[in-house]
Amino acid sequence: MVCRRYCYISKYAFGTYKEAICNINSKKLPNLPLPSLNQTLQKYLKSVRPLLNDLEYNTSQNIVTTFGIKDGIGENLQKLLLERVKNSSNWLTEWWLKASYLSGRYPLVLNSNPGLIFPTLNHHNSGYINSRLNYISFVSSVISATIKFRKQVLIDHKLLSKTAENFNKTGHLCMSQYYHIFGNCRIPGKEQDDILISDLKRNLIVDDTGFYIVVICNNWGVGRIVVDLSWNDPMHFKASLNGNQLETTWHIILLWKLRFTDETSIYKGIEYIIDKCEKMGKLKNPVNLLTASNRLHWANAYEKLTKANTHNKRVMKIIQQSLFVLCLDLDIPPSGDDLSNGTLMNLKANNILHGLNSKHNTGNRWFDKTLQIIIDTDGRVGINYEHTVAEGPPYFAIMNYIVESLKRDSKMVEERDSELKGSQFCQLLNFQVDSNIDKDIEIAKEEADCSINNLNLSLYKFQDFGKHKIKLLSTSPDAFIQIALQLAYFKTHNEVCATYESASTRKFLNGRTETIRSCTAESTRFCTRFVNYHSINESQDYENNKNDELYPLLKKALEKHSSLAKEAMDGQGVDRHLLGLKIISASMPGAEKFHGRLLEIFTDIAYSKSRYFSLSTSQVSNSHDSFMFYGPANVNDYKSYGFCYNPRKEAINYAISLSSSKVNATQRREMNDRLNKNFQSSMHDLLGILSSKSDIQKK
Ligand code: COA
Repeated sequence: MVCRRYCYISKYAFGTYKEAICNINSKKLPNLPLPSLNQTLQKYLKSVRPLLNDLEYNTSQNIVTTFGIKDGIGENLQKLLLERVKNSSNWLTEWWLKASYLSGRYPLVLNSNPGLIFPTLNHHNSGYINSRLNYISFVSSVISATIKFRKQVLIDHKLLSKTAENFNKTGHLCMSQYYHIFGNCRIPGKEQDDILISDLKRNLIVDDTGFYIVVICNNWGVGRIVVDLSWNDPMHFKASLNGNQLETTWHIILLWKLRFTDETSIYKGIEYIIDKCEKMGKLKNPVNLLTASNRLHWANAYEKLTKANTHNKRVMKIIQQSLFVLCLDLDIPPSGDDLSNGTLMNLKANNILHGLNSKHNTGNRWFDKTLQIIIDTDGRVGINYEHTVAEGPPYFAIMNYIVESLKRDSKMVEERDSELKGSQFCQLLNFQVDSNIDKDIEIAKEEADCSINNLNLSLYKFQDFGKHKIKLLSTSPDAFIQIALQLAYFKTHNEVCATYESASTRKFLNGRTETIRSCTAESTRFCTRFVNYHSINESQDYENNKNDELYPLLKKALEKHSSLAKEAMDGQGVDRHLLGLKIISASMPGAEKFHGRLLEIFTDIAYSKSRYFSLSTSQVSNSHDSFMFYGPANVNDYKSYGFCYNPRKEAINYAISLSSSKVNATQRREMNDRLNKNFQSSMHDLLGILSSKSDIQKK
């Protein structure tokens, strides 16, 4: 997905980012390269061409040429960048986190945090989860599997090659992202946020301060799971649960500690928490809602909450340092509800992405937390993740592990020792909240409800064919899907748009992503010809000849996409290099004087148009029948979509999102349905054109 803006690595980090990176594969991995200036400028010009008229293009061409002249500003900046490359294993990492995540002032909900939904399991089909006791067993089994994933994959490295792809056809991949998903949290700041990156070594130490999970239920609650019951001073459940005073001035958090090796304790703890939270009912206006707010608002409230209040500071730290947050959503509206957006799966996906609204589960989250596992009362599991430290693949790896262990271990975690009491492991804490903070929470609530209300997120499946058939046509499935999407967009809006696709640069040490600019001159030529062809030619003769004309155009578009994807994965894309040039220009002597004039390359319309990604796309593939999703890059624009797809062997799962206040909910849904319909027909159009010239037709 599209990421924006700047950050810095944190004073909160337990170690430096470098130290926190696990060394799996690191010795084998090369450093991220820096493309040549000329190559990037030439590619950049090609990439902006389809988005500009002739006048705009000529102006941009002059600006880019001036920037790139011998001994000019571009070459000077490139020299500075090369110095940086020499002195670091990855010249981009720190800047990238700054640029794309931590300096963003927008709310994490819809703008940054993606979600994923697990496939339907036997437990759902068989009605297993319908019983309360089985539900508690199921939740406990998910917790247990997650903690085992962390131990076996990240600590013992036992399942690394199976569970987490650390090697692909291009060679070894950097695994550092996997090591940052547990025990971390984003922390709001006024200028920019921080990221707490716990160091794996510290994480390995068995202690009772950093080894627990947080449970939120009915907007209440934080719980701990501790590896070792070596803690000497268990804090027992003490506070009274009744009384209005608690609700209006105190926000309660349930904190419990359990020995994770003892699954019965997990069971007891979960049972206890659910029981208490159900009795207490839903907490109105929880502090949690502030994490759904814009970052400045949250940073101000955070300061009020923690600056002079050591108690609140401590509670905050407990949440931030927990291994992960578990959200138990007891409040899911029926599928016929307006929020369901048509299907039950859509309802569930929306719930995972944003919690539906403050009346439902938006307050039952801690959106700053790197890993949130969400389980609703039907036992539908999902993940919502804060994006700063990792892309989607590690989260899909966790999902795979949990799904496989639930399938494999027919015996679920259950109550074995009736002597144990959940309360033994639970501690009730609270935030101390004054009326000022209550007002802040009200504002956060309105803001979150309003942006969620403007969103449509819909899940779709293309079931007529998948990767397998596309490969038989000697075509890259990813290129095929991307060109089908270009065509779908053109059919929908009669124009092309800047398109972002993420490519992984994990073949380099600490590599994250590069942009594939999927809208190319070649794809535009194909789409334009295809659509014009259909609108002006209806005669049978022309129909018969159409594939002769469209086939070479399509082939060129596909080949171009594949070569751009390869270059991006090789660290030879355009966007990260331009970002580096832009950032380093600020450190150049006399930068203040020349910025306004010479750095026109970054103020030019070509730069802004080519980065206004109306299609923000990402492939996150997984063999399970699962979906990943996120909001569009441009909010409040009814021509801007998020499109995240999971190409499977015989089908393609995908999610489309769109946000606009200019149209109503039904229209938003119709817009997504229209892009979906055009995408599905485009998949067939491409197959038809390619098959007409291929042996596959005869097979
Ligand atoms: N003929 C036949 N088969 C082909 C082919 C061709 N011309 N081109 C590719 N294939 C095969 C590949 O060998 C591969 O086979 P496999 O399934 O056996 O591994 C399969 O088709 C898929 O390849 P392709 O569709 O080209 O794409 P990809 O899987 O290499 O993915 C990217 C391309 C750019 C999406 C991917 O490399 C990547 O970077 N993914 C990560 C993106 C990311 O980080 N997203 C998260 C953001 S939150």
